[in-house]
Amino acid sequence: MEIIKVANAEEGGKKAFELIKEGMKNGAKVLGLATGSTPETLYKEMVTSEVDFTEMTSVNLDEYVGLGGTDEQSYRYFMNDQLFNQKPFKETFVPNGKAEDLAAECKHYEEIIDGHPIDIQVLGIGQNGHIGFNEPGTPLDSLTHVVELTESTINANKRNFDKVEDVPTEAVSMGIGSIMKGKKMILMAYGEAKADAVKGMIDGPVSIDLPASALQNHNDVVVIIDEAAASKL
Ligand code: GLP
Repeated sequence: MEIIKVANAEEGGKKAFELIKEGMKNGAKVLGLATGSTPETLYKEMVTSEVDFTEMTSVNLDEYVGLGGTDEQSYRYFMNDQLFNQKPFKETFVPNGKAEDLAAECKHYEEIIDGHPIDIQVLGIGQNGHIGFNEPGTPLDSLTHVVELTESTINANKRNFDKVEDVPTEAVSMGIGSIMKGKKMILMAYGEAKADAVKGMIDGPVSIDLPASALQNHNDVVVIIDEAAASKL
């Protein structure tokens, strides 16, 4: 893993965007994108840039079960709002959290991933080391699946909802195996709340107890972190 320390999330967003631009120059056509507050500075850089994304495809990591594009807390809404409305892509994929048959949606989404191999996967990390919505205990070779969210994740994400009861308890998420199919990983983490997860991801054993540790088995991972997130290394 290559570790790049930055002063803050703004600098991290700039650094991540440099890597993406370099990748695009070298032929990258598919971006794996993430939600959460972490990638917001990256999306700001993308939106304010002159770069044209109309030949690019994006494949997002996950979506809450029960929420769709018109729900403000859905990840589809977040992506449209933060990036796609300002910077149109050729095609954008986010799992359908409102699918009637979720098992079929998972299978279909994995086919989308295989049909649009991800050149650069953008990742954040949960406080318990989750990537996408792959909570501790998720098999490292898992494909797109329905996930039951842990209390820790529900609590961490409740800030985006009026009340904790409104936070969906399930999500459709790319599996760890699906994420690992991507050619290059850029994982960003900022703030002290991520320090334990970052330490486990980089220095800990590869274990289902900390899903991001699977990235140790990937041959092209760049980790962009601020001092606080790096404080336990
Ligand atoms: C959610 C998302 C993850 C994200 C994580 C951290 O659980 N599914 O993709 O990495 O939150 O969010 P934040 O960046 O807001 O700390």
